[in-house]
Amino acid sequence: MNKLFLLLFISLMVHPLASQEIKLPVADREGGKPLMEVLSNRKSDRNFQEKELTLQQLSNLLWAANGFNRDDKRTAPTANNRQELELYVTLKSGIYFYDASNHLLRMIKEGDHRKSTGMQDFAAFVPLNVIFVSDLEKASSEHYAYTGCGYVSQNIYLYCASEGLGTVVRGSFNKEELAKLLNLPPHQQVLLTQSVGYIK
Ligand SMILES: Cc1cc2nc3c(=O)[nH]c(=O)nc-3n(C[C@H](O)[C@H](O)[C@H](O)COP(=O)(O)O)c2cc1C
Repeated sequence: MNKLFLLLFISLMVHPLASQEIKLPVADREGGKPLMEVLSNRKSDRNFQEKELTLQQLSNLLWAANGFNRDDKRTAPTANNRQELELYVTLKSGIYFYDASNHLLRMIKEGDHRKSTGMQDFAAFVPLNVIFVSDLEKASSEHYAYTGCGYVSQNIYLYCASEGLGTVVRGSFNKEELAKLLNLPPHQQVLLTQSVGYIK
């Protein structure tokens, strides 16, 4: 029996449960630059630094992207309120699912998989890649599923413009490779990716 406890203790030390989940701090809903200034600065950047984002920036960005701004509805609209889009992110430490209802990141795969999120060099070292996964069984139509991605992507663009971060939405990625990496069932598809980081 003691051996069993020892084994359990060792496995918890090697794979601490805490590392499987990142509890995000409450998003700051009041900060940021005025909208017209943000729109003036909105642009795509590709010249990223490796510098990490803070947990607060990660929290704010994910909430701005597709978080809940009311009990059951989000910062981005969806046709018929299907809420078919979910976000995954790659950090240096692993791939995480953004659990928007609990505002936390749930690790689905440990390790640095950033390189797999795109063909452009910066994808491999940029601190954050967001992966847009749409559930096409939930969506009203494929057309609307893609439309929904646009709103979320623009939310990320606007947050980055406000925060002085760089971002670029990316259609260049290997759809099959990413779906396999995320263990997606056939009705869930990766529709877009987006990189975020500080600019050189
Ligand atoms: C659906 C979509 C896919 C895109 N895919 C890529 C991409 O794979 N790689 C990239 O560097 N930029 C990509 N972009 C960014 C565009 O190149 C960029 O928005 C365009 O050049 C205009 O520049 P701006 O965003 O600074 O206004 C994409 C943009 C959209 C809307």
